[in-house]
Amino acid sequence: MKTFKLTAKKILSSDIKLSLHALDNLSTLNLFNTIEKTSKHILITDENVDILYAKKIIEQIEANGYNVLKLIIPPYDKSKNLQEYSRLADECLNYGFDKHSVIFSLGGGVVNNIAGFLASTLYRGIGLIHFPTSMLAQVDAAIDFKQAVNHNQGKNLLGSYYPASQIIIDPTVLKTLDRRFIVDGLSESIKHALCQDRPFYDFLEKNVENLDDENILLEIIQRSIELKLELMNDDLEDDFDETIKQYGHALGHAIEHLSNGEIYHGEAIAIGMCVSSEIALLLGLSDERTRDLHYSIFDKYSLPTVVPKKYSFDNIWNKMKYDKHSLNGKVYTGILQSVGSMALTKSGEYGHYIEEDLLRQAIDKNQQRIKK
Ligand SMILES: NC(=O)c1ccc[n+]([C@@H]2O[C@H](COP(=O)([O-])OP(=O)(O)OC[C@H]3O[C@@H](n4cnc5c(N)ncnc54)[C@H](O)[C@@H]3O)[C@@H](O)[C@H]2O)c1
Repeated sequence: MKTFKLTAKKILSSDIKLSLHALDNLSTLNLFNTIEKTSKHILITDENVDILYAKKIIEQIEANGYNVLKLIIPPYDKSKNLQEYSRLADECLNYGFDKHSVIFSLGGGVVNNIAGFLASTLYRGIGLIHFPTSMLAQVDAAIDFKQAVNHNQGKNLLGSYYPASQIIIDPTVLKTLDRRFIVDGLSESIKHALCQDRPFYDFLEKNVENLDDENILLEIIQRSIELKLELMNDDLEDDFDETIKQYGHALGHAIEHLSNGEIYHGEAIAIGMCVSSEIALLLGLSDERTRDLHYSIFDKYSLPTVVPKKYSFDNIWNKMKYDKHSLNGKVYTGILQSVGSMALTKSGEYGHYIEEDLLRQAIDKNQQRIKK
């Protein structure tokens, strides 16, 4: 038999620019130098963000000599699916997209993710510029190569790794975002603090009453990005990095999906992180103080900490088995030894594979908090 190996190296990279009022000054950001004037371009946004910010962005793009068509999707995760993807693809191709066309994505994680997935697939990859407008998108969803839509079986099951060329972050747009979404996004910042940075944990704890101060938000977003970028090294599946990025996510995604939009992403992973801290205790890898530091910070940020009893264990377990990291009937999580430090498995890995019974015990412990 003759065998061959086909390899190609492609470097994924995105330029991230963070500053107050960045979205008022696009011409100063070197955004447009490489965008083809003769090609057609599209701005994708959702119904809520459209009313607030689309006009000012489109005016600035047009002032630089481009034509952009605006496409609007309904808000929330219900739009992050193949039907909406397919509708947007039809619109782009009918409009006359070519290989040099650019998609501008203006909105929260939902808009960024579906626009990113679309950009990665049209002509096997066209230009993509993110303007993330929600807290979750500014600290996490847009700071990634992961683009995806959901499937009935689970979240983000259809996706790709694809870089936006530019990610422009302006924290001043957060002033129009509901408080529930602000703290929802900050759940990802708390995740980084718990896993990587004790002083950042203290900073977040101290500033919970100061979230109206845009300089505090700027500082939180900056630190969150720095901590996330530490994990975005050459190996996109690196065990240590991936375990931190996915901390609380296996259970969180299951709860988020089962709740059908009632529990948001950051809320669901806050619950997931609390259950991970219970698993850590049950495994004897951590202590009560570390577990309590999980519950206390999420309580301070008014994020949920307990798995709602209305979701049966079997339903949760079945959803978790579709998590991409699940293996041989076990689910995957990182474990904290203490705040800022991850615990290793006996074989020296950061990802712990958890049996059904251990997860059941951890959720029982977690739900005992309801009675307190
Ligand atoms: N690595 C990744 O790709 C990654 C990481 C985390 C989350 N996500 C995904 O992100 C999505 C959730 O993102 P999200 O919380 O931003 O949800 P979202 O995009 O639905 O936005 C939340 C709500 O806020 C509104 N909104 C956004 N910006 C606003 C602003 N500045 N002012 C007023 N309203 C505004 C939106 O219209 C929406 O109603 C989920 O699909 C999740 O899976 C992806």
